[in-house]
Amino acid sequence: MKLPVAELHIHLEGTLEPEAILRLAKQNGVTLPWPSLEQLRDQYDFSNLQSFLDLFYTNLAVLRTRADFHEITLAYLRRAEASGVRHVELFFDPQAHLERGIGLGEVIGGIREALREGEERFGITHKLIACFWRHAPAASAMEILRTLLAEGHQIDGIGLDSSELGYPPALFRAVFDYARDHGLHVVAHAGEEGPPEYIVQALDLLKVERIDHGIRCLEDEGLVRRLVSERMPLTVCPLSNVRLRTVDTLADHPLKEMLVRGLNVSIHSDDPAYFGGYLDANFEAVDRELGLTNAERATLARNSIESSFLEEPAKSRLC
Ligand code: ADE
Ligand code: ZN
Repeated sequence: MKLPVAELHIHLEGTLEPEAILRLAKQNGVTLPWPSLEQLRDQYDFSNLQSFLDLFYTNLAVLRTRADFHEITLAYLRRAEASGVRHVELFFDPQAHLERGIGLGEVIGGIREALREGEERFGITHKLIACFWRHAPAASAMEILRTLLAEGHQIDGIGLDSSELGYPPALFRAVFDYARDHGLHVVAHAGEEGPPEYIVQALDLLKVERIDHGIRCLEDEGLVRRLVSERMPLTVCPLSNVRLRTVDTLADHPLKEMLVRGLNVSIHSDDPAYFGGYLDANFEAVDRELGLTNAERATLARNSIESSFLEEPAKSRLC
């Protein structure tokens, strides 16, 4: 994959490779329920989103210091460069670290420093997006958002992630109002496992600029027409969808249909260390199973850049 692309749906904590998990566990004196690589790898067979999240949240206990966040961010950027990524909008989950007693300064300081270094070394530009857990109360998200802004932590936007079913976007309306009022970009996971109605809520109530996943929009004709006419970006993650069983196989993935319907889709990797590969692997797998034309490949790459929050003229330079 040689076309320049933007990675817009990537969770930093989802780039923690199994080897790094065990190394950091040892280094930081953290005991995990799976002490060997083999035992850890045996956990990577998921039945749905929640079964993955249970493992993902357990493993991130190994991240303790600013240096850890710096190290994994830089490792990701090195890997991203190899897959053609020219710009990244990185997600992280502040609640996952705050609840373990790791301060926002440690987390964001380490990530930001690595992002700056990555820009110098690899030429990859960046934005940083704090994702709030939808399984936690909206009051927790609001309190953290206020702190992020009051203490001047550098974030470019907020998102909404974690368990989807039973946690409609409507719960987070005030949080997103507050973020938009303070000039932050806003995105939300919706329509991954949840129904099309959650996508509608994310659009109408949270007024998001992008939908993360969104593949279940295809169940609602009116919604598809709306998404097409608004050119709403959908950040689709094919390998993730297969591993979390929202689609049966890659050959059944609706990406091609979404392209044909005129939806503004782009390909991303979500949690590459858990789902079998980074952006290049996602492109290659889709190409192999669905057979992309050169024009479709170019459209996917261009959509990723146009859907980014990069300012001009940097955005046009990449298109
Ligand atoms: N957090 C990390 N990966 C996620 C995903 N695919 N969906 C929801 N929350 C997540
Ligand atoms: Zn995600």
